[in-house]
Amino acid sequence: MANCLLAIESTCDETAAAVVTDDGRVLGECIATQTELHEQFQGVVPEIAARAHLERILPVIDTAMRQANISKDDLAAIAIATHPGLPGSLLVGLSVAKGLALAWRKPIVGVNHVQAHIYACGIGKSESIFPCIGFVVSGGHTNLYHCTSPAEWTYIAGTIDDAAGEAFDKVAVMLGLPFPGGPQLAKLAEQGDPTAIAFPRPLLNDKSNLDFSFSGLKTAVRYRIAGTGKQIWGPSLLTPKHQADIAASFQQAILDCLIGKSIQAVKRYEMNRLCVGGGVASNHQFRNQLAQACKHAKVELHIAPPELCTDNAVMGALAWEKIKRGQFDSLDLDVQPGLLRRR
Ligand code: KG4
Ligand code: ZN
Repeated sequence: MANCLLAIESTCDETAAAVVTDDGRVLGECIATQTELHEQFQGVVPEIAARAHLERILPVIDTAMRQANISKDDLAAIAIATHPGLPGSLLVGLSVAKGLALAWRKPIVGVNHVQAHIYACGIGKSESIFPCIGFVVSGGHTNLYHCTSPAEWTYIAGTIDDAAGEAFDKVAVMLGLPFPGGPQLAKLAEQGDPTAIAFPRPLLNDKSNLDFSFSGLKTAVRYRIAGTGKQIWGPSLLTPKHQADIAASFQQAILDCLIGKSIQAVKRYEMNRLCVGGGVASNHQFRNQLAQACKHAKVELHIAPPELCTDNAVMGALAWEKIKRGQFDSLDLDVQPGLLRRR
């Protein structure tokens, strides 16, 4: 019996394909990034992203299939991330997935990209990561889920404004750092003092809910860069030391909120297991500090390996959970763009 899955990912600006077995072995993988296309705009331009996916998606799938050294006959299904994401980007992936499913006579399985980020923690592990509190920290999402099984995800809380990665990216622009901002800001923060500036930790001590809020923190950074009452502002007016201190202090404020709230969620739901994925989870400081905090709080931590934190197709292995339950989709499957923060 065929035990390989072809997973396709095109939700934002990464075009990716992977061949993953039902026991989590990655036989082939290819990711085409679009950094050079978006950097002059300091953010992802949806129309450019969709056009680039169209050019790249077939060579990317071909590369993953060749690397896996399998034929279409070895495939049990084709998995495609259908939500959430940029509409044009999602449509390119879904259209190609449907075309291949039809031509190769394979079933198609739609995957939730946000849940897949969390599922990445457990791929290839012999023990299940479920039940757990799932935490996705990416460019579009900062969501906590109560996950009783790989098929049951209940949204607990999330950001009420900016996502953590979005705040990293926007503050990076304020500091004049190149795109993509998150990793650049993290690099600059290594040279700064995280205690230099007491930026706010929004909602951290609000015990009434587990939500996050980062837009006020972002504004606090903007005023710190501008200086009170100054008409002209910009990172060029700051010394390199001051820039690094702002980066480090901002990063620490975000990390304190992410770590504090996720551990609160684990305690509140008495789960004792935290599973974390998404682009921001590749941040070294976050990984180290969260590991220490979990050890101290006696919480079992699973954090996706750095290469599976940022967008990739391997995490589409989540589709195996639907395949095992006989939950295939039809060719009527559609994309669900938007942030869908509460799903
Ligand atoms: O999961 P991902 O690749 O795409 C989304 O689904 O959003 O996450 C991308 C986000 C971006 O905001 C990026 O700046 C952020 O993750 N990111 C980081 C780091 N690496 C990626 N943020 C902070 N530190 C990093 N090392
Ligand atoms: Zn993502």
